[in-house]
Parts: sequence; structure tokens; C-alpha cells
Amino acid sequence: MRQRLTNYIRSGHAGLYIVSAEEARVEAEIKAVAEGLGYKLYAWSAIEGLVNTADGSTQQANDPIDAITAINDLPENALVLQRDFHLFLEDRNPVLIRALKDELARSKTKGRTLILLGCRLVLAPELEREFTVLDFALPDKQQLGVVLDGICESAKLEIPTGDDRDQILDAATGMTSTEAENAYALAVIESGGVDSGIIRREKAQTVKKSGLLEVVNVCETLHSIGGLDLMKDWLLQRRDAFSKRAVEYGLPSPKGMLIVGIPGCGKSLTAKATASVFNRPLLKLDAGKLYGSLVGQSEGNLRSVIQVAEAIAPCVLWIDELEKGMAGSKSSGATDGGTSARVFGSFLSWMQEKRSPVFVIATANDVTQLPPELLRKGRWDEIWFTDLPNNEERQKIWEIQIKKYGRKPADFDLRALVEMSVGYTGAEVEQAVIDALYAGFAEDQEPTTKVICQVTAESIPLSKLMAENIDQLRKWAVGRARPATAPTKAEKQRRIAA
Ligand SMILES: Nc1ncnc2c1ncn2[C@@H]1O[C@H](COP(=O)(O)OP(=O)(O)O)[C@@H](O)[C@H]1O
Ligand SMILES: [Mg+2]
Repeated sequence: MRQRLTNYIRSGHAGLYIVSAEEARVEAEIKAVAEGLGYKLYAWSAIEGLVNTADGSTQQANDPIDAITAINDLPENALVLQRDFHLFLEDRNPVLIRALKDELARSKTKGRTLILLGCRLVLAPELEREFTVLDFALPDKQQLGVVLDGICESAKLEIPTGDDRDQILDAATGMTSTEAENAYALAVIESGGVDSGIIRREKAQTVKKSGLLEVVNVCETLHSIGGLDLMKDWLLQRRDAFSKRAVEYGLPSPKGMLIVGIPGCGKSLTAKATASVFNRPLLKLDAGKLYGSLVGQSEGNLRSVIQVAEAIAPCVLWIDELEKGMAGSKSSGATDGGTSARVFGSFLSWMQEKRSPVFVIATANDVTQLPPELLRKGRWDEIWFTDLPNNEERQKIWEIQIKKYGRKPADFDLRALVEMSVGYTGAEVEQAVIDALYAGFAEDQEPTTKVICQVTAESIPLSKLMAENIDQLRKWAVGRARPATAPTKAEKQRRIAA
């Protein structure tokens, strides 16, 4: 970051906008850059006015417009750090915007750089081209380690080393320095040491605060999935893709996969199991919330999501029901000023360029809502299609679900269950088991095959209700997505005959 900042300043960029919630860390970095370049550093805030950081002398220019005008009197080769300035830009005061533009033009000839520092990106279209936006990455493990050492020293604790240290720092990635410091301190108070479990819990809390991301705890593994063998094999093959060995071997980091399919057939389940396969954290993105109402907010939202995911990486970033977040991106901007299309475009280019080990797993029920760019081969390592489970798969699913609710598959007539559940999704099989448990409980009896068959007969499966949609989805999938299930012998024969 230091080098990048230095380069921008040396190449005469008059306006920089750093998006970060970590004032102290960014300011320390800017100070170091100023020293390295031999530039003077001025810092402005609405409370303190314009302060010369070298000698502490201040200029009373608390009003933002006065502040901008006062920059004109500063010497050449100077950096001016503007704190909280985005808040003043929010209402797009034309006088302030003009003052900024004029000052940027002057600064450019005088070797001065204005640096706006804010936790969000707020730029009116009039200023978008005047400022270069820089994201300040969240602290890496080494930086989080410095904070850890500080806490241990002040708490007079032994500084953790080896695997212990690694686990703590791994748990802390994705937090800002201040958040990590707070989490370490809390762990010391709660447990008398820095316990990585507590750090992980605190991180889950802080990640959730933005309302976009959630760290999901998973207990699902590939064993929780009945069928979908091809997809499972594929995942298993990539199990060690984030390891040091894979990097040394020269494996490119996997991009991710998209699962399209009939609702209730194991898409979300697979996403969760994937995190277990990689043995890395699962971050769930609420794509619907990505679109903020304020101008520029949506882009900012996506930025912060990417920052957190890259800091926690290797990790799995799960976007469930992608179509919900992408609705509107097909519109050429008629409905929302092009925000969805723009956010979506940035997401795609991130996917395309990303080098960081973030495995993106997206699921979708309705492909008609997805923009075609997203479905192009090459965007994803694979696009999968999950169909209704075949007989073999349903048998596995019955077994899994019966076991999941603490009963023994051997106590049931699995063949009968498989036969009566033709056209059922995995979710419907699970529901049948739950319904049978309720029925059994009411009668103070254990559920039996007969009870399951009875309760199931009372409900109409989705595949009947949505026959047409399913048919369309299947047709779409041919040639576009890879079936997650290998064809059965009978299916193969049918294809050969056809
Ligand atoms: N192939 C499967 N194997 C085992 N359970 C399944 C399977 N498919 C669905 N289920 C059950 O149905 C529930 C809902 O499935 P889910 O993965 O959320 O469906 P969707 O494809 O709509 O995301 C799962 O939590 C699981 O209990
Ligand atoms: Mg789902």
C-alpha cells in the first residue's frame, strides 16, 4: 500500500480517496509516505481545522469550504488529509464541489495531493473522475500479529508461537486492527489467554455487523449429501487446492462453481459441505442486500465484501440464490440508474481477475433471472445442474435423513420408501421424515414406514406442481451445465436408443 500511495503522489495525482474504517492505520501509512517523499503533511477535521502535523500549528478552517480554500495557501509538495469529508459530500453542495474541483486543478500544478479518508465511498458524478479511489486492505496476519504481541505484553502473557499463533491469527483475519485488538482483549478477560475460538466468535460478530456477510458454522460434510456423485468427486479432487503443496505444484487457485437446479435438491447443502471439504470458513453473502439505496453505496458494499473475503482467504464465499441479487442487472439501467449492472460488472471482473484463494460458490433456482454473461463457460470452474434425485439417490437421502433424526434406516422398508417417493426432492424427503416424527409423537409411537407413506401421500410434490418449470430448467441445462449426477444404466441405454 505504501508503495502504491507513493507512486500515485509522485505521478502527480491531486485527488485520492481512501476507503477504510481504519483511520489510525491509514494515517500512520500516509505519515510514513509523506516522510519518505519529504512532503509536508496537513490533516483536517471539522473539529481541529487544518493542522500542520510537523509543528502542530493550526489554521481555523473548520468549515469544509474554508478548508478547501485554505489549501491554496499551503506550500508546494504537501499532502492534505481530509477526515470525514465524505459526510460533507453527501448532500452534493455545488459550492463545495466547485471549490474542490478548482483546488484540485491548482494542487496538480503545485505538487499537492488531497487525500479523502472515509469508511464509505461517497462521490458525486462531478467528482468521480477527479479522484482515484484506493481500497485499503484489511490487516494481514503479520500486522494482526503485531497487535497480538502488544496485547500479550500489556497483559503480561506469554506470546503465543507456532500452531497456536497461527490459529489465533487465522481466526483474526477479516477484522480491522481495532476489532482484532478488542477481540484479543476480550479473550484475555474471558479465558485468561488468547483463545482462537473466542476470536473466531468475535469475528463472526464483526463480519455480521455490515449486514451483508455472515460467517456460517457448518457441520455438513459430503456424507450429508445423498447422490450428486459427480459434483462430490469434483469437489474432492480440489480438496487440497489451497494448500502449500498445490501452490508449489503450480495449480491455479480454483475460481468457484455455480449450481443451478430444482429447489430442494441439495444446492445450499452442497455449498455448506464445500466449506468442510476445504476445511476453511464459509462466508455467506446476502446478494439482495448488496444494493444500497444511496448512490455509490452498492459499489462500496461489494468492495467491503471482497475485502473481508480476501482477508479471510482461503475461504468459501457462498452467494445463495444469486438470481435474487442480480435482478435488475439485466436492465440497461432503466430502473436503478445502472447501479445493479455496474455492481454486477465489478463482481464479474473481480471473479475474472482474482488471484486470492476465495472459492465462490453460487446457487440459483431460476436461470431466467440471471444475466447471460454470468452463465458463460470460463466464468466458473464448473456450472452444475442438480436434478430430482433418482432411485439410488433417494435411497441414500432416506438413509441420511432417517439417521439425521436419530432413527435407524434398518428399521424402515427403504425400497418401499424409494418407490413411493418418485419425483420427490431431498427437501421433501426430509419433510416426510419430520412429518412422520410428529405423527408418531402425537400417538406416542415410533414412526414407521407406513406412517411415512401416509403423511407423504397427503402432500403434492413440487415436481408435480412445477412440472413445466422443471421441464424448462432441464432443457436449459442440456449443454450448458454439467449434471451433478451420473446417468443411471437405464438412462444411458435410453440415450443410446434415442
Ligand atoms: N441430496 C441430498 N442429500 C441429503 N439431503 C438433501 C439432499 N437434497 C436436499 N436435502 C435436504 O433438504 C434440505 C434442503 O436442501 P437445500 O440444499 O437447501 O436445497 P436447495 O437446492 O433449494 O438449496 C437440506 O438441508 C437437506 O436436509
Ligand atoms: Mg437453497
